[in-house]
Amino acid sequence: MAPSIPVTRTGKSRLSETDFNRLEFGKYISDHMLLCAWKEGAWQQPEIVPYGPVSFTPAMLALHYGQAVFEGMKAYRMADGRITIFRPDMHAERFNRSLQRMAMPPMDNEFFLTCLRALVEADKEWVPAHEGSALYIRPVVFATEQRLGLKVSDEYLFVILTGPVGPYFNKPIKVKVEETYVRAAEGGTGFAKCAGNYGGAFYPTLRARKEGYDQVLWTDACGHQYIDESGAMNVMFVINNRLITPALTSAILDGVTRHTLLTLAREMGIAVEERKISVKELKDAFERGLITEAFGAGTAAVVATIAAIGIGGTDYYLPEPHAGPVQERLRRQLHDIRRGHAPDIYGWNYIIA
Ligand SMILES: Cc1ncc(COP(=O)(O)O)c(C=O)c1O
Repeated sequence: MAPSIPVTRTGKSRLSETDFNRLEFGKYISDHMLLCAWKEGAWQQPEIVPYGPVSFTPAMLALHYGQAVFEGMKAYRMADGRITIFRPDMHAERFNRSLQRMAMPPMDNEFFLTCLRALVEADKEWVPAHEGSALYIRPVVFATEQRLGLKVSDEYLFVILTGPVGPYFNKPIKVKVEETYVRAAEGGTGFAKCAGNYGGAFYPTLRARKEGYDQVLWTDACGHQYIDESGAMNVMFVINNRLITPALTSAILDGVTRHTLLTLAREMGIAVEERKISVKELKDAFERGLITEAFGAGTAAVVATIAAIGIGGTDYYLPEPHAGPVQERLRRQLHDIRRGHAPDIYGWNYIIA
C-alpha cells in the first residue's frame, strides 16, 4: 500500500508549450511521471517526479525477452470542472491478468488506483476540457534486471505517464480483413496487453496502410475464418438491426470500451450478440444489404466509425451516413456519462478532483 506518494515538482512546466487546440494523439507528455520499482519480492515506495529520461542498462531483460505490459485509459474533465478517470478498476483487473500471463508480479488494485489518482492530481492542469479531448494515462511495467540468460526477471519498474490527447481518428476508417498474418492464437498472449502483441502487428499493418487501409481486422489463427478484433480496438457490426461483436477468446483483448458499449446497448433495448462472426457472414451481409454499421471500440478511438471493409481484395462500403444511429446513440450516452450529464448508474466515473 502507498499511503502517500512524495511529489517532486518540476521547476519548468511545459504546459504553455502545449497547443491544447491541436492535440495529436500521443504527441504531448505531461510534466510528471510516477515511478515505482519492484525488488526483493515487493513493490517499493512510489514517487512522482518530473517527466524525463531514466537510465537503464541494455542488458535489462525486458529488451531481450519481452516482459513488458501496459494499460491505456483516460481522465476526462466533467462539465462542472471535476476530473474523472473512466473505469480504472476494470483496467486494474486487466493489468493484473496481463502481468500474470507474462509471469510478472501482480499489483494490488487499490495500490494501482492510489498511484493513478496521485499522478492525475499532480498534473490536473493537463486534463483538457474541450469535447473529444482527454488526458490519456499510460501505466507500464517492464523487466529491469540485468542478465543475458533467458530467465524471468526479479526486478521491474512500474511507470505511469500521462498526456493530453485529441481524437485518434479524424475521419471514418477503412479496415482490411487480414488473411495472411496473425495477431494472436488461442492459448497465446492475445488477451494480455503485452508489448510483443503490438510489435508483431506493425508489419502487417504497414502493408495494409500501403494498400490504402487505416487498420487491420484480425482473424483467427486457425483458418482466418472468424473476425477477432482490430489494431487497438474491438470491433462491432450492426447486422439486421442487431449489434454483433466477436465473443471474447484468449486471443482477443477484453476491451473496457467494448464492455461499456455492450452494457449501454442492452440498457437501450438494442439486441446484442456476442458470438463468432465469420468473414463469410460479413461478406454475405454486405451482398444482401443487411449490414448497416461497423465501428471500432477502444479507449483511444472511443467509437471509431468504419466506412469500408476490405475482404479478399474487394472493398465493401457501409451505407451512408457511416456514423449510423446505433453508434451515435452509444457514443452520445457514453460522452454524457463521462461529462456528468447522464446518471452514472454503474459507478464508472472515478472522480478524483
Ligand atoms: C488490441 C486491442 N484491442 C482492443 C482494445 C480496446 O480496449 P479498451 O476499450 O480497454 O481500450 C485495445 C486498446 O486498449 C487494444 O490494444
